[in-house]
Amino acid sequence: MSQSINKVAVIGAGTMGHGIAQVSALAGYEVTITDLDDSAIQLAMEKVRKNLDGGIARGKLTEEARDGALARLSAVDDLESAVQDADLCIEAIVENKEIKQKLFADMELWAGGSAILASNTSSVPIGMIAEATAHPERVIGMHFFNPVHIMKLVELVVHEGTSEETRLSVIGMVEALGKESIVVKDSPGFATSRLGVVLGLEAIRMLEQGVASAEDIDKAMALGYKHPMGPLRLTDLVGLDVRLAIAKTLSEELGGDQYEPPALLSEKVARGELGRKSGRGFYDWNE
Ligand code: NAI
Repeated sequence: MSQSINKVAVIGAGTMGHGIAQVSALAGYEVTITDLDDSAIQLAMEKVRKNLDGGIARGKLTEEARDGALARLSAVDDLESAVQDADLCIEAIVENKEIKQKLFADMELWAGGSAILASNTSSVPIGMIAEATAHPERVIGMHFFNPVHIMKLVELVVHEGTSEETRLSVIGMVEALGKESIVVKDSPGFATSRLGVVLGLEAIRMLEQGVASAEDIDKAMALGYKHPMGPLRLTDLVGLDVRLAIAKTLSEELGGDQYEPPALLSEKVARGELGRKSGRGFYDWNE
């Protein structure tokens, strides 16, 4: 048995949040999006409009579909209004366990009794986030990929207490979004980050050691292994700060040298070189 989902609240309007809001509104859900930072909300709305316009220009979308999606999407400047009446709240805020736990407690308080609470976390165990709630059976991981409107996968992470109803409801929503899901047991880094981050961090270590240039390390995987893009370019798209936070979490949770953040990654983050979103990471995005 699954629960019907009509209203979706997206909390966190950054790289991932705006994309999740966009695909949800396009699929017919009533969507609210909010963030602590008002300018992030405005930027997210602009990005959604631009993406949808791009879809029309490429012949993938009609003007009617764009207008419908924009009419269903509301920017809201406080959490309480954003989540009230929502059937599903999707969190896409900073990758920090304590901050996410606090948000889940607040979302539960304001969203009402039956809302499903999902996290887009890349690495924080869902069971730990669920501990902050009174109804862990309604908590699940819903891990989208960047850019959300293009990437087909949603990795669903079920912790020990996630109910069957929650799992089935969310599987149904992923289908309605036109995406594919995999269901993964709650474990650090799930299936995707646990494997993908090893490659990204090792590429940074190779760059530190002067094994090859960033371009050539990326070319190695793109042409030699048919990856759609190399690990350093992908790190720029994900955000170096986001990757560093994931590496720290996985290093704590799984141990082993492979998740130890390379010095070059920490240095770049400290300098504000966060990848595409800041204009510079392993590549210069302003060129
Ligand atoms: P981002 O840095 O682009 O956006 C995060 C947004 O959350 C910011 O606008 C910030 O103001 C807001 N925020 C922070 N604390 C908040 C709070 N307490 N309440 C409301 N808003 C708050 O981050 P991004 O890249 O969108 O990542 C968000 C989450 O998605 C993280 O958990 C990350 O690990 C995960 N993720 C990121 C992917 C990526 O490629 N960037 C891919 C898949 C998952």
